[in-house]
Order: sequence, then C-alpha cells, then structure tokens
Amino acid sequence: MVSVLKLGGSVLTYKTRWFSFQEETALRLAMEIREAGTVPVIVYGTGSFGKAYARHYRQGQATADWGVFQLTTAAIRELGENLSRALHAQGVPHCLLPANAFFFRRDGQLGWDGPAPLDRLLRAGVAPVLCGDVLAEGRDRFRIISSDDIIPILAADMAVSSCVFVTDVDGVLDERGMLVAERSGAQQQVAVFGDQDDITGAMDAKLAAAVQSARAGTQAIIVNGLVPGRLRAALRGEQVTGTRVTTAALAAVPAGR
Ligand SMILES: Nc1ncnc2c1ncn2[C@@H]1O[C@H](COP(=O)(O)OP(=O)(O)OP(=O)(O)O)[C@@H](O)[C@H]1O
Ligand SMILES: [Mg+2]
Repeated sequence: MVSVLKLGGSVLTYKTRWFSFQEETALRLAMEIREAGTVPVIVYGTGSFGKAYARHYRQGQATADWGVFQLTTAAIRELGENLSRALHAQGVPHCLLPANAFFFRRDGQLGWDGPAPLDRLLRAGVAPVLCGDVLAEGRDRFRIISSDDIIPILAADMAVSSCVFVTDVDGVLDERGMLVAERSGAQQQVAVFGDQDDITGAMDAKLAAAVQSARAGTQAIIVNGLVPGRLRAALRGEQVTGTRVTTAALAAVPAGR
C-alpha cells in the first residue's frame, strides 16, 4: 500500500508573488517525508508559478495558444526543479513526471493510462512526483488538470492506503473559522474564506477530491503544512490536527442548516 501526498502550491510558493518558492518550508516538508519512512506518490500544486498564466485559461479552462501552454508547463517544471532540489537535499529519492505522460481528458472526463510506471518507481524506492499541469487535449486545445483532481484517479486505480492533502490552513474551516475535524461526503456546502482560486478551486475543490478519494476506499486527510510535524504525523497515520474526510453519511440534518 502507498500514501499519496498532495503538496499544495500554497505551501511551496508565496501566493502573492509570482514564481516565488518557499524554500525553507519545502526543505522541512521534504525532511518530514524522509522521517515518515514511507515512499509516497507526491503531487505538487502550482501556486504562484501556475497562477501567473491563469487568466489565459479562464474560458472553460482551455487555451488555443500553444505558446501559453509552453510557458505554463515551463513554469510548472521550474517549480518542480525547486521541489526536486529540496527532496534531494533531504535524502528523498524521487523522479519528476509530466502529467501529459499519464493523463488525458475525453468527453470532459479525466482518465489515465494506468499506474505501471509509478508502481515501477515505487518498487525501486523512488517517489514519483506528478503535478498540476496543462494537458494537450487536441489541436489548439490546451486545458488545465488540477493537482487536486489527480489524487482520486490514483486512489481509484492503485493500492492507496491514505491521501494526505497539505495546504496552508489547518483544514476545512466552518463559517466561524473553526476547524472541522471530520467532514463527511454527505455534507453539502463548504464555507468560503480568503481568495478563491477561480481556475482550479480552493478548499471546495480539495474537499471534493478528498471525498472522491475516500469513496475509493482510502483514508483522506487535509493538514496544514506550515505547522512543523503535521505532514510527518499524517504520513505515519498518527493522530494529527486536520480535517479527516469520510464517506459516512451523517445523521439527517434539517434542510437549510
Ligand atoms: N472553508 C474553508 N476552509 C479552509 N480554507 C478555505 C475555505 N474556503 C476557502 N479556503 C481557502 O482555501 C485555501 C487553500 O486552497 P488553495 O487552493 O489556495 O491552496 P492549495 O490547494 O494548497 O494550493 P494550490 O492550489 O496552488 O495547490 C486557503 O488558504 C483558504 O484561503
Ligand atoms: Mg488549490
């Protein structure tokens, strides 16, 4: 069984400065991965590296401009190289992989060619590193694949024990700003805070991905990567502050509450 780890762009980059890498945080998170003693599949979000080109993808998240595709994927790869240096420095063997080598979208549905290359790397003790990216879907059609959306695809087709979503808040917050320790897929709305990322969604998209992963039979948890120790604990399956996402239906909640 393997853990799948989503490293949010919110912890790897500074959201408000384009192409800015949070090196110290990345080094600490890489250290926690090593200390956890597991070889996870890592998927990184693009943060301010991807968002720099976001406006080009607003119309249905697609662009016809191959030059924009080239610039976006280059920026995402640059963030990957930064992350790779941090993983190397902390002793985590890994291999960067572009999303176009694995994923496609057909009739609006994401699919993939299967996990064989990932399994090979894992057996060799090397953590595969995927990322939110831009898929070449056809001639003059380049569309974003969000890092959150990659996680349930992996959870559905691999022997995944847990999916850990690392972001810059403690987990899902309710309308009073209090941490929701456990969240069921049966619940509807999520309170909306802060800047909403209009391209790939923020907490709402993450929660949807976590619910889908849980439905595939994995543990799913959202934790704050800015707080030392939480990623390590989550990877080890220890008790940790965060939002555990389950599929269990809740007791009936009166409508409108
Ligand atoms: N109900 C909520 N609870 C917690 N965070 C929320 C909520 N609603 C909106 N958010 C926002 O969601 C953000 C986290 O999602 P965001 O997409 O910005 O980060 P990420 O997924 O870690 O980064 P990236 O998308 O670059 O990988 C938080 O910083 C917060 O501002
Ligand atoms: Mg996000």
